Amino acid sequence: MVATTSTGRDGWSSRSAFILAAIGSAVGLGNLVRFPAEAGANGGGAFVLFYILCIVLIGLPVLLSETLIGRHGQAAAPESYRKVAEESGASKSWELVATLGVLSAFLVLSFYCVLGGWVLYYMYLFVADLIATGVSGPAFDGMSFEAVDALFPAMIANGPVTVVLNLIFLAITLFFVARGVSGGIEKVAVYLMPLFFVLLVGITIYSLIGGASQETFDYLFTFEPEKLTGEVMLAAVGQAFFSLSLGVAGMVTYGAYVSREVNLAGTSAIIGAADTSVALVAGLCIFPIVIAAGLTPNGGLGLMFQTLPHAFQEIPFGSLIGLAFFIMVGFAALTSSVALMEVPSAWVIDQFRLPRPAAVLLVTALAAVFGTLSALSTGMLSGFHPLGFLPMFEGLGFLDTLDTLTSKLTMPIGALFTAVFIGWIADKRLVDAENGLSGGLHYLWRFLVRWFCPLALLLILLGGIFPDRAAQLFAALGGGEVQSAEVAE
Ligand code: PHE
Repeated sequence: MVATTSTGRDGWSSRSAFILAAIGSAVGLGNLVRFPAEAGANGGGAFVLFYILCIVLIGLPVLLSETLIGRHGQAAAPESYRKVAEESGASKSWELVATLGVLSAFLVLSFYCVLGGWVLYYMYLFVADLIATGVSGPAFDGMSFEAVDALFPAMIANGPVTVVLNLIFLAITLFFVARGVSGGIEKVAVYLMPLFFVLLVGITIYSLIGGASQETFDYLFTFEPEKLTGEVMLAAVGQAFFSLSLGVAGMVTYGAYVSREVNLAGTSAIIGAADTSVALVAGLCIFPIVIAAGLTPNGGLGLMFQTLPHAFQEIPFGSLIGLAFFIMVGFAALTSSVALMEVPSAWVIDQFRLPRPAAVLLVTALAAVFGTLSALSTGMLSGFHPLGFLPMFEGLGFLDTLDTLTSKLTMPIGALFTAVFIGWIADKRLVDAENGLSGGLHYLWRFLVRWFCPLALLLILLGGIFPDRAAQLFAALGGGEVQSAEVAE
């Protein structure tokens, strides 16, 4: 049976299904790859504490704004913005904010599935290793440090492999999205998220018992104010944002399938808390094994695809733990890619009145074209820098260009306008009837959406476009040192 929302459309079958799907959207490579890598690159505790502050002060208010617009509109994101605008006597051009979000979601989808493909490759590596060396031994037994290190560059340079794996990951995503909200998207979250949590907790306990737990706690939670530089703050804000899936109309789209009875403030708080907890636990999962193996928790993709496999080389049951780890990452990536695919698909369905399977197939085909360019950008197309004439994109290949374009520009722009829309433009009664807040929290939320979020988001945007100037400004405000060479000049 297909569950429906109050307007008779396909929707979440229950409040908990919505919560799991939204957590599934939020928890992804952002928490497992990006968060530990950013924490590693940005000095640990200072980054982590500032990150939590950003989630509470910017992330949650915008998350509630997005779900609220979706629930009120009960339609694909642009139409939901238009409805709220029209009922508030405002210009219907506000729908352009969501149109930009739909475009961003599509672009993120196109490179996210390339990374999903890399995760599939590592699953294959660990399965092969398990078969070759057995369950109880360390991973990659007998292979040198250099040989394990070389696995990652060899994979990303191998065009046919990355292209095919991207297509496989896209096809898996398509399989669920084509089945609809209650029949597919919800199912993948309801089955995979509990399994994800079991794997995460299990591996983390193993890692904390056998690894360098004390050093990890010191590293992640010791707050050293002098490490809180402008760059660290900008990195934390951007990460908070990517992690909660904001600014791509994703939570608007998911919000549209929520029934009227659900309290949006309460559910947003649960989603935010779960997403943040997973990021922190991911740190507690990864760093103890890495530090115990005598490796430095460095930043970037190397942490997951090179440093961690080295760490699995050092521990008993390394191949098994490694396989469980990459299966867990794959689950998290899939529940996020499903959300990313649903945003443009819902729009195509509404806009062109296409049946769902046709719309999803169209989105997938286009994503496959963009994805192929991203997949090849780490190999034979590495010299192709599509926006290289702009300083912000200088030297970036196709995948990195899309990543920078979305996370530093279109996502913060989308969220900035959403905060302004809800804080200043939308009818206050309409907003109050949807948000489920009362008392002091209501005033706090209004203040954050009207003043704090727009200003903070403007700073993130300027920070993305003029990193050096913004770092100087933040450093002056936060009293931290400016470490970047260019800034220090
Ligand atoms: N939040 C997801 C992650 O952390 C990524 C994502 C962004 C998913 C935007 C949906 C929409 O990996």
